[in-house]
Amino acid sequence: MAITGMMIMGFVFAHMVGNLKMFLGPVDFNHYGEFLRELLVPILPRTVALWLLRIGLITAFVLHIHSAYSLTRMNHAAREVQYQSKRDYIAANFASRSMRWTGIIFAIFLVWHLFDLTFTGTGYHYVRGYPYQNVVNSLSRVPVALLYMAGTIALGIHLFHGAWSLFQSMGWNNPRFNSWRRNFAIGFAAIITIGNLSFPIAVLAGVVAN
Ligand code: HEM
Repeated sequence: MAITGMMIMGFVFAHMVGNLKMFLGPVDFNHYGEFLRELLVPILPRTVALWLLRIGLITAFVLHIHSAYSLTRMNHAAREVQYQSKRDYIAANFASRSMRWTGIIFAIFLVWHLFDLTFTGTGYHYVRGYPYQNVVNSLSRVPVALLYMAGTIALGIHLFHGAWSLFQSMGWNNPRFNSWRRNFAIGFAAIITIGNLSFPIAVLAGVVAN
């Protein structure tokens, strides 16, 4: 869970930073998309490096979901009889108790996101190779912008607990580091959430426009 989580965190951070290029305008942003497709050319043919990264990412997602499923089954097997009264949570907070839900909500959003901006477009004039125009055309629809914000918030809550608990899973959990761990989890989740919220907000506000 933790190793694949860290791989996905690395992608999410790089993707958010890359998307900030949107604020530099269509030429820079579309050029960045092209740069990713041209990565390591001419050592490798066009898009091969990108496909290797994609395969790594897909593998990380599949293993992450598989670990989540196994963990859920172990949890249920460990307590076959439900708690009979309301539980008094001591160590668990809202983020940790909602990991399954925020994960499932984000996964559904991600499938939508891939259709929306990578595979086909979702009912607007999608043009392959022009991600800037695609982002503007898609996210200027208010319900879609709201969907991006909801997906981003689900991811933010998921990341907050994930970035905290990965230290526990890896065994890096000396009590002396706990305040550092907490600050890291809050900081990482906040940076990703604020960065990703800025895109639909900027499109709705007309700051990022065609
Ligand atoms: C809300 C903010 C987001 C925006 C504006 C955004 C924007 C984009 C754009 C424009 C593309 C297409 C790039 C291209 O065609 O060159 C893309 C692809 C993608 N996005 Fe996002 N994204 C956002 C959030 C996320 C998040 C949080 C994830 C988390 C996993 C994610 C995962 C992906 C993946 C896996 C691809 C496909 C990359 C590829 O195969 O080349 N995106 N995104």
